[in-house]
Amino acid sequence: VNFASDNTAGVPPEMIQALIDANHGFVLGYGNDDWTRRLDDRMNALFGRDVATFLVPTGTAANALALAHITPPWGGVICHQSAHIMTDECGAPEFFGGGIKLIGFPGDDGKLSLATLKQAISQYSARRPHQVNAAALSLTQASESGTIYRPAEIAALCETAHAAGLKVHMDGARFGNALSRLNASAADLTWKAGVDVLSFGATKGGAMAAEAIVFFDPKLAEWMPERRKRGGQLLSKHRFIAAQFEAYLEQDRWLAWARHANQMADRLARRLGEAGIEVVWPVEANLVFAIFPKEIDARLKAAGAAYYARRPSMLPPGVKLPAEAVLARMVTSFATTPEEIERFGDLIQKR
Ligand SMILES: Cc1ncc(COP(=O)(O)O)c(C=O)c1O
Repeated sequence: VNFASDNTAGVPPEMIQALIDANHGFVLGYGNDDWTRRLDDRMNALFGRDVATFLVPTGTAANALALAHITPPWGGVICHQSAHIMTDECGAPEFFGGGIKLIGFPGDDGKLSLATLKQAISQYSARRPHQVNAAALSLTQASESGTIYRPAEIAALCETAHAAGLKVHMDGARFGNALSRLNASAADLTWKAGVDVLSFGATKGGAMAAEAIVFFDPKLAEWMPERRKRGGQLLSKHRFIAAQFEAYLEQDRWLAWARHANQMADRLARRLGEAGIEVVWPVEANLVFAIFPKEIDARLKAAGAAYYARRPSMLPPGVKLPAEAVLARMVTSFATTPEEIERFGDLIQKR
């Protein structure tokens, strides 16, 4: 049973087939190929407007290049304190952004509230030239706590951000998990709510290595081709990254795979609840956080189950981690099976 991350899963056969199908003949590099052209059209159709799409191989590159593009080197990016850009990208946004400053704030359920954003903006919009000024807001969808921003929440945050001159970035490493849970379109969750640029992840959803930076106003993407190239993120055999994204979007596979992952997370949360285990945040995507007594943690680990322990400081205020317990994060994927969930549940209940 492996719930360490959604990237521990392999790649669905449809994705491998798309790579095999793309693997013949001689094709120009750097995006001058039919796969990339078709994907551009498909992205326009998915979002219901002309967008500017840039494919990169990692989510870190997508976030870092997108943030670097919308934030001047002396600007600040407001984000949640648990945001992947803050905690897990080894300073890539700061590096690609020439020294931009990420400013993390707390927020219930892994999300930033409107009140926090307003306070953050007022704290970081004065004292020029001595202090970094807020230039961008970054939201993670689904969040690092496995929760989802609703379109109305995004719209309110974007309105406040834009009124203060900030641009809005969305880290959509798990965009499919968020979208497949809501009765909304990809447009509702992004530009219609005010998002300026999306890191649209496919890797966690099933691709081998495919992420897209999507600008909803192509004018904002001016000089992005150079930024991606200069950052070493323009693949020469570009057809293979476009072919992956094409296969991901075709027949709405990405949504079906994400829906499956979400359903497996629901099932896991139910099973944990039945076993008397406390689940920490509402399970809205494919992440489940739970407090495991140490002996259960040891039993699961001894049986070969994989998941990560998270920092107790991630816990919401008022929830205290007992001394003999761990905060465990379980991540499901397109490849998770009901049998794995049952095995995991049985191990927990074997008292
Ligand atoms: C929320 C979020 N954003 C971005 C990423 C970036 O992924 P990568 O490992 O491809 O750089 C991850 C991966 O864990 C993530 O969880």
